[in-house]
Amino acid sequence: MELKNRSRRLRHNPLARSMVRETRMSKDSLIYPIFFEEGENIKAPIGSMDGQFRWSPDRACEVIDECLEHGVNKVLLFGIPKVKDEVGSQAYDEHGIVQEATRKIKSAYGDDIYVVTDICMCEYTSHGHCGILHGHDVDNDETVAHLCDVATTQVAAGADMVAPSDMMDGRVGAIRHALDEAGFKNTPIMSYAAKFASKYYGPFRDAADSTPAFGDRRSYQMDFHNGREAMKEMTWDEEEGADILMVKPALAYLDVIKDLSYSTNLPTATYSVSGEYAMIRNAGKAGLIDEYGIMCESHVAMARAGADIIITYYAKEVADAIQKGDIG
Ligand code: PBG
Ligand code: ZN
Repeated sequence: MELKNRSRRLRHNPLARSMVRETRMSKDSLIYPIFFEEGENIKAPIGSMDGQFRWSPDRACEVIDECLEHGVNKVLLFGIPKVKDEVGSQAYDEHGIVQEATRKIKSAYGDDIYVVTDICMCEYTSHGHCGILHGHDVDNDETVAHLCDVATTQVAAGADMVAPSDMMDGRVGAIRHALDEAGFKNTPIMSYAAKFASKYYGPFRDAADSTPAFGDRRSYQMDFHNGREAMKEMTWDEEEGADILMVKPALAYLDVIKDLSYSTNLPTATYSVSGEYAMIRNAGKAGLIDEYGIMCESHVAMARAGADIIITYYAKEVADAIQKGDIG
């Protein structure tokens, strides 16, 4: 058969395929989320997230060494305090769990590891909502004032970057102002700009004991029917001084990642969340899918959609896949 165009010419062998690959993966763009809880000598398996653990700060070096062995040198810290209260006071205590874990890691590794800290109240409030309640409603402006204290105490403890995940209005601008006032002008903010109200966070809430005691988060997180609204959130966060914009979750929102990455000149991040991890992990364990293969394909899809930065519980395994040349 006489054919002018044959796609197969460039698929002929591995070298040809590697030459024309459109998406390049790098370990440099991976961030690994870690859960810290108050206490000592703890490495507690998280039931809903097989292979993930809750660590006490005294064992931080174990988990950081593991990351570094795989070539992952960026982490995102979450904290689970012993005591939760109405106003989430442990979130902005200078000796809170994330502040202590950050201090420990930065004093041991300095600039060899990049520490990002999550800013939110839901792991610290007794009611599990992401802010201060007035009746059954999260009070936006009062919450923002507290988020600023979360940010400044985390950065004072050594955090390299902060990542507000609360979805209150105006928090990026307020945190920027608070950090500048506190002398942290060069600390970037990675905003959870388009964070959807998602069932994919279920396993995380089990890991962090942060399921809301009543209601849900739909009055502050985004409605998953909306794509254009993500562009609005993006624009506002840009105006308020965000340095990196994030879309969360990842796999069900590749269209949003694509739109956002085309529309902004800021780096685009995505967070492949606990539910995505748990689905792939458990389906793999049940022998229903090839876990490794699906992991590779899914993470390349996030990059192909436009994510410059990928936050993932699979960071170490993805780094290995890149190292082996299976992807990237
Ligand atoms: C805190 C926060 C959540 C996640 C990241 N930061 C939970 C939530 O909003 O309920 C989810 C991460 C994951 O599912 O892996 N607001
Ligand atoms: Zn929250």
